[in-house]
Amino acid sequence: MITELAKGVYWVGVVDWALRHFHGHELSTHRGSAYNAYLIVDDKVVLVDTVWQPFQDQLIENIREIVDPAKIDLVVANHAEVDHSGSLPAVMRHIPNATVVVSKRGRESIEGHFHQPWNFKVVQTGERLNIGKNELIFIEAPMLHWPDSMFTYVSGPNILMPNDAFGQHYATAYRFNDEVDQQELYEEALKYYANILTPFSNQVLKKIEEVLALKLPVTMIAPSHGVIWRKDPLQIVRKYQEWAAQTPENTAVVLYDTMWDGTRHMAEAIGEGLTDEGVPYQIFHMAVSDRNDVVAEIFKARAVVIGSPTFNQGLLPTITPILEDLKGLRFQNKVGAAFGSYGWSGESVKQLEEHLGRSKIPVVAEGVLAKWQPKTEDLARCRDLGRAVAKAVKTYPPNK
Ligand code: FEO
Repeated sequence: MITELAKGVYWVGVVDWALRHFHGHELSTHRGSAYNAYLIVDDKVVLVDTVWQPFQDQLIENIREIVDPAKIDLVVANHAEVDHSGSLPAVMRHIPNATVVVSKRGRESIEGHFHQPWNFKVVQTGERLNIGKNELIFIEAPMLHWPDSMFTYVSGPNILMPNDAFGQHYATAYRFNDEVDQQELYEEALKYYANILTPFSNQVLKKIEEVLALKLPVTMIAPSHGVIWRKDPLQIVRKYQEWAAQTPENTAVVLYDTMWDGTRHMAEAIGEGLTDEGVPYQIFHMAVSDRNDVVAEIFKARAVVIGSPTFNQGLLPTITPILEDLKGLRFQNKVGAAFGSYGWSGESVKQLEEHLGRSKIPVVAEGVLAKWQPKTEDLARCRDLGRAVAKAVKTYPPNK
């Protein structure tokens, strides 16, 4: 159902209640998602972004409730990823001569995706486009989260449309932030930041400063996923500043996989050591845990302690995906340690410590390797490891 955000500005997107995995299978989306597209009816009719291709007919129907799609003059494509551009071909079939407004890198990526000879207008940061009573102002936002990403600001109603930034994979019956459960909303917003935007945290901070320096009044922030920030819209900007600063809580995440429970017993003994020093922790068995949820918990925590038995002279395969995440997401201000049981060759702890090194997470406690099932003294060493990690958490940064 379409929603009017302000006079002449409409949400014409779709809610994808069934989505459980995004980016292929890379990202879990337990609460579905929404692909937000916006229609502005002024002297010119402007569509800002589209929706994922399977929902193209619904987008066209939504537009038709307000205006004949053939009347659209401009389509702003803030970002080429197909969850937002996938319905461009369907829209452009109605308006083959319309202008597609893109950033410089957006032109490359939109052309790369669709190979169509559309009329492109390339815009730069600060460029304005008069559409009648209102103006569009464009702000390039490279690496938030693709090189092509761009924000569009609608003067008059003063709505910022920042595409993926400030979004959430969150399907709801409601369109606005003040209408939904705040805990659910922030869980999804943080999971989205942790799993998608963390590596670009420096760009996030710079872009926020740049946008705030423009001193544009903002009555709404209308991202391309999830709900629209209407009540205190800058609350999510302040939250992004906090998240981008990467100042974790004094807590720990212990994650592991196990074959016959030896490494599990070690994880639990490490937890006891953390408790001895008063550091809260969570333990995740990666064979049965959602990787992206664990990433969000690691994002919030100071310490990450990783365990795997040695398996074929390496790690259990259920552990390696999250190690790739840790490397790619480039978390800052964390400490780590490793542990694991083994039967005969025992490489896992060394390999885990190497992974932590590649992820720029300093190892702050001697790794514990236990042969076969951990003995009482092995579990005591695990408890010591937990205490050492807890001390590193409490005294972070190390040179203080
Ligand atoms: Fe980068 Fe929502 O796509």
